[in-house]
Amino acid sequence: MSRRSQVLRALIGAQGTSVSGEDLAAEFGVSRVSISKHVAALRDMGYVIEAAPHTGYSLVSSPELLLPESVEALVRHELWARFEGGPSTVSTNDDAKRLARSGAPQGTVVVVGAQSGGRGRLGREWVSPSGGVYLSIVLRPGISPARCSALPLVVALGVARGLESLGCHPLLKWPNDVWLGTGAGATDTSGKLSGVLLEMQSEIDRVEWIVAGVGVNVSSSAGRTPGAAYVDDQVPGCAPAAVAAAVLDGIAGCFGQFVSDGFGTLAHEYISRSMLEGRQVTVRELDGAVRASGRVQGVDADGRLLLDDGSGMLTVSTGDVTLRDAGA
Ligand code: BTN
Repeated sequence: MSRRSQVLRALIGAQGTSVSGEDLAAEFGVSRVSISKHVAALRDMGYVIEAAPHTGYSLVSSPELLLPESVEALVRHELWARFEGGPSTVSTNDDAKRLARSGAPQGTVVVVGAQSGGRGRLGREWVSPSGGVYLSIVLRPGISPARCSALPLVVALGVARGLESLGCHPLLKWPNDVWLGTGAGATDTSGKLSGVLLEMQSEIDRVEWIVAGVGVNVSSSAGRTPGAAYVDDQVPGCAPAAVAAAVLDGIAGCFGQFVSDGFGTLAHEYISRSMLEGRQVTVRELDGAVRASGRVQGVDADGRLLLDDGSGMLTVSTGDVTLRDAGA
């Protein structure tokens, strides 16, 4: 973690009370002048930090814009090694792929507060106004491409875990969409909350890198996109940086479990959060052609959707799912 983010983390941890420059300098093994330079840099970024002669520094407020430093100061998991980004970019997936190609380590994060060319699954656009969280991570799991089929579900489950830790009721839509559950019934939803886009580079038997991009709708104050749900529908005033950090830590936990034990150990948790479980669905190809229809009966250890079509069990690896009894 950068020294500046460490200073910020200490100020956030103090929850508005003062932290002395001397204590910070001793903790990080640097001079007090160096601490005051980091504080000045944080102020330039929009953090309001008060300084009192005998008590030290206290954080009064954070910038509204989502900045990588704010997220780095809040994440807990050791997987997250390096933070890049800024107020906006074209697509964090494009930035993360560039970094991955030039050797960025596993755990590199690109996080921004707006995108001008956000990309979704199946060649769709991901509308990315400010007020949302847009991040991409570099993973190097060192496994064969054949073992990666469940990874989109692993990342979506991590996003759901993170959002749940903030007080939301997320539900999963196979393979890697996160919807906002109403809390009323196991499958009732109010709109799509988050989407996941995975891209990878691999040799025939070894994955070189995977970039997982996550978009989360956080605040609807700038207007609502049709069909979308927002974190602040259930957790009013939730800061984008807190959402980004919670999502990252959720993903890190699931990813660690996946790498050590495979998806089998996560499948039960995935199914228990699925808004499709037991419902009649249609799975379509990219061109709209129907690939399969049936009642959802969970997912297998490779992350494939299991469908009972009345005459037997089908397994589906890819496609776009629609509920036959609703507009999801
Ligand atoms: C989908 O549901 O279609 C996936 C949406 C993924 C959007 C995220 S936002 C951050 C990252 N950068 C992109 O351009 N796309 C992903």
